Amino acid sequence: MHVDWKHVAVALAILPFAVVFAAWIGFFNVGASSGHWKITDWFLHFAMRSAVRTYALAVDTPPELPSHAVQTAAGHYARGCAICHGAPGEPRSPAVLRMLPLPPDLAERVDSWSDAELFRIVKHGVRFTGMPAWPSERRDDEVWAMVSFLRRLPALSAEAYRDLAYGQAGSLVDRPLTFQQALAECTRCHGVDGRGRSTATPVIASQKESYLLRSLEAYAEDRRPSGVMGVVARAVDRRHWQDLAAHFAALPRPQGREDAEAALVEAGEKLAAEGDPLRHIPACLVCHGSQDRNPAFPSLAGQPAPYVEQQLRLFRDGLRGDTGYGRLMREVARPLSDNDIATLAAYFATAELPQARSIESARDDEIYHPRGPSDR
Ligand code: HEC
Ligand code: HEC
Ligand code: HEC
Repeated sequence: MHVDWKHVAVALAILPFAVVFAAWIGFFNVGASSGHWKITDWFLHFAMRSAVRTYALAVDTPPELPSHAVQTAAGHYARGCAICHGAPGEPRSPAVLRMLPLPPDLAERVDSWSDAELFRIVKHGVRFTGMPAWPSERRDDEVWAMVSFLRRLPALSAEAYRDLAYGQAGSLVDRPLTFQQALAECTRCHGVDGRGRSTATPVIASQKESYLLRSLEAYAEDRRPSGVMGVVARAVDRRHWQDLAAHFAALPRPQGREDAEAALVEAGEKLAAEGDPLRHIPACLVCHGSQDRNPAFPSLAGQPAPYVEQQLRLFRDGLRGDTGYGRLMREVARPLSDNDIATLAAYFATAELPQARSIESARDDEIYHPRGPSDR
């Protein structure tokens, strides 16, 4: 067959203009009601699966999914995902059933993806589908927690889901307007007693009121990145923040937890009380020791070890964000090894904190640049 290359070239040159013209006269139906052509549907899914598979190759999968954070992820799922994907015992809303593409029932889908692929989808979302990216780009740990939750979804009963996601609150209020509704929102993850329903959630009972309030502001304004708390802080009306902070600050202080290894706790206690001048690590208790110091310095006694470890890693990696005083902590965390972090977390989880020297009596340069032998 003779091919007239001149004609082919002209046709190819005209094609883009023809497509723009067709779009301009409204040839392409963008209505969702009639669905995609079969071929478009096939192609879009083919492209999506291939892209996810390829980009997931670059994902660093942790050796173990963070099962201790499943409750928090379930709590976030209820606010951030169930509206489109439904949840055990809660079918998708009729409005969502008319979306194109339809957000799938994830319990039926998760088994067809690897952990790295789920991570990729949940962190970055899917273009042209309505599937959103994770609210904070800097919190891979939260995304892994969600992957850990998604893995459990297929086997999760309606009761087990309700307990995980809502706790004693029993349900989710879309727009918490009254103080009681706002408080119920917090108890879904922090518990009615403010001690945290999982070890990924900080104790906020008896924490300093001003630190709690400033932290809520920092989350809402994204100065402290967290997909989970960012969404919650924005969902709850600002005028309740002060009362919520006061409420939790007034709850009784938790007992120290006793399940840590004695050797870890001992090493952590020494480092917290004395620091390590050789490695430029200041004594933590100078700032975190007793109740009556700068209200911007949070109390750490009785915080769950996994939460403390995670926060220290975030500080060390420069990802923690803060209420305005985080520069101090980033300096402090930089020289910490993984082992230091494990011992410190074990100590603070069990600690009944001694009254350490107050911040006023410690000199500033002593805190930031503890003296090593070479400086003497
Ligand atoms: C506004 C609606 C919407 C929200 C909110 C939403 N998604 Fe999606 N999601 C979608 C849509 C639509 C798809 C289908 C994409 C496709 O078919 O290519 C999807 C796909 C997915 C997939 C891939 C499933 C598959 O096999 O195609 C996963 C996993 C997922 N979402 C998890 C989540 C998680 C976790 C959240 C909450 C953090 C969430 N989604 C929030 C709409 C949503
Ligand atoms: C879906 C679960 C969830 C809900 C609901 C929730 N929180 Fe949180 N909260 C968390 C997690 C997880 C963190 C730790 C986030 C991080 O890594 O920064 C946190 C952290 C906090 C902190 C910082 C504490 C510290 O020690 O630094 C405050 C303050 C806080 N939450 C208050 C609230 C209040 C008030 C509400 C109700 C309006 C609420 N939270 C609702 C899970 C939740
Ligand atoms: C110079 C004072 C100072 C010293 C010393 C210090 N911290 Fe902090 N730390 C802070 C401040 C201020 C914050 C609050 C940051 C913010 O969110 O604004 C904080 C926050 C933290 C948090 C997060 C608490 C939470 O609820 O999220 C942890 C964990 C922590 N510090 C551990 C340590 C450890 C461990 C040491 C010792 C190695 C240490 N800190 C030494 C000032 C200090």
